[in-house]
Amino acid sequence: MSDVSITIRRNGPFIVQGPIQLVDSNGQTIPVDKPVIALCRCGGSANKPFCDGTHSKIGFQGAEAAVLAAEAAKPSSE
Ligand code: FES
Repeated sequence: MSDVSITIRRNGPFIVQGPIQLVDSNGQTIPVDKPVIALCRCGGSANKPFCDGTHSKIGFQGAEAAVLAAEAAKPSSE
């Protein structure tokens, strides 16, 4: 089993726990000095790639919740 885990918070960030190397799109390593980090999933953080709590202020709904809501709204085919 891997030493790294990624947990999706409901309507919130990805919680990454374990030894990782975080690299941006330019190949630059982003220093990670904590054993647990939260990566923004909503796109609203002013401190990307890290979560700064903005997801709560903007009412972000994660894909899982959105998919479940869409499934519930579908007319039944049975
Ligand atoms: S997920 Fe928290 S600010 Fe985007």
